[in-house]
Amino acid sequence: MEKSGKPILLSGVKPTGRPHIGNYFGAMKQYVDLQDQYQSLVMIADYHALTSTQEAAILRADILDLAIDFLAIGLDPEKVTIFQQSAVGEHTELGWIFNCLTTMPYLARAHAYKDAAANNREVNVGLFDYPLLMAADILLYDTAVVPVGQDQKQHVEIARDTAEKFNRLFGETFRLPEPLILSTVQTVIGLDGRKMSKSYRNTIPLFAPAEETARLVMSIKTDSKGATDPKDPETCTVYQIHKLFLNADQAKALADEYRNGLPYGDAKKKLFSTYMDYFMAMREKRAKITPAQAREVVESGAKRAKSVAIGTMAKVRAAVGLL
Ligand code: ADP
Ligand code: TRP
Repeated sequence: MEKSGKPILLSGVKPTGRPHIGNYFGAMKQYVDLQDQYQSLVMIADYHALTSTQEAAILRADILDLAIDFLAIGLDPEKVTIFQQSAVGEHTELGWIFNCLTTMPYLARAHAYKDAAANNREVNVGLFDYPLLMAADILLYDTAVVPVGQDQKQHVEIARDTAEKFNRLFGETFRLPEPLILSTVQTVIGLDGRKMSKSYRNTIPLFAPAEETARLVMSIKTDSKGATDPKDPETCTVYQIHKLFLNADQAKALADEYRNGLPYGDAKKKLFSTYMDYFMAMREKRAKITPAQAREVVESGAKRAKSVAIGTMAKVRAAVGLL
């Protein structure tokens, strides 16, 4: 990677089905907005996806689709290193070293594990260990900032703790990363008013066919107020989603329409139309990106990432006494 003097940004998305507008507004949009300001690495977190997917054909397709999505939203592969996590084996190697520094009770406090255990889901060792692989992703590249949604804040804190512990035991090696969480977005809510998440099946995908998106938008849960009754935008899921697409003045004007009795059916149609306008250029761009182009981008990204990762691992091995 060339030395641009810019601080390093790293983030990742799991290739587990179609990205949704929660992923976009919470995280992916930031990668695009910040690509000139930072030296950026954007990762397809396929090793992380394996903690929840055991269908090879689906995973393979999702990896390629996510690479295409990254290009479609406007990441410039000349500026941003887009790569597949599993193409850089150093991630799992560093993850192993972190395994050996971290106690089980410490990791047992992580939300993702606690939620899975509380819901009686079977927890594989990979899921339990997920935050340390993520710490390795971040720390391998001297990362300064990690743009993520609110749900990933704890994972970035675990990466910081892990870096501190390593530095204390083996000498100053890792920079402490900061999470970048947009205060205006934090957690995007889904069709049913809960956090938008693939696992809740309550998402509005970024690039679904228009008819499917229209159907999903029309299915957003609302309260039972009559058509022309005043509505409360602050508690209305349709408004909370619509607001993501608007600037402050537009959001305020729309909120006034809700208070003046905008029927929910009309509010949903407005949201759908805003969604289509907003993503139209990206949809058109996506249709033109070929799998071969996307493959080439991730292959060249992997080479750049790997060369940095190798350098970090040489230092780490020396620091812990493996050399
Ligand atoms: P998911 O949570 O849907 O399985 P990922 O775990 O791959 O998706 O998340 C990719 C990025 O999108 C992360 O930075 C995550 O914090 C962000 N993200 C996911 N869901 C939301 C949401 N509802 N609101 C805001 N950000 C989100
Ligand atoms: N765990 C993140 C998620 O579920 C994805 C991810 C993996 C990630 N490695 C990362 C995000 C490194 C930021 C930095 O969304």
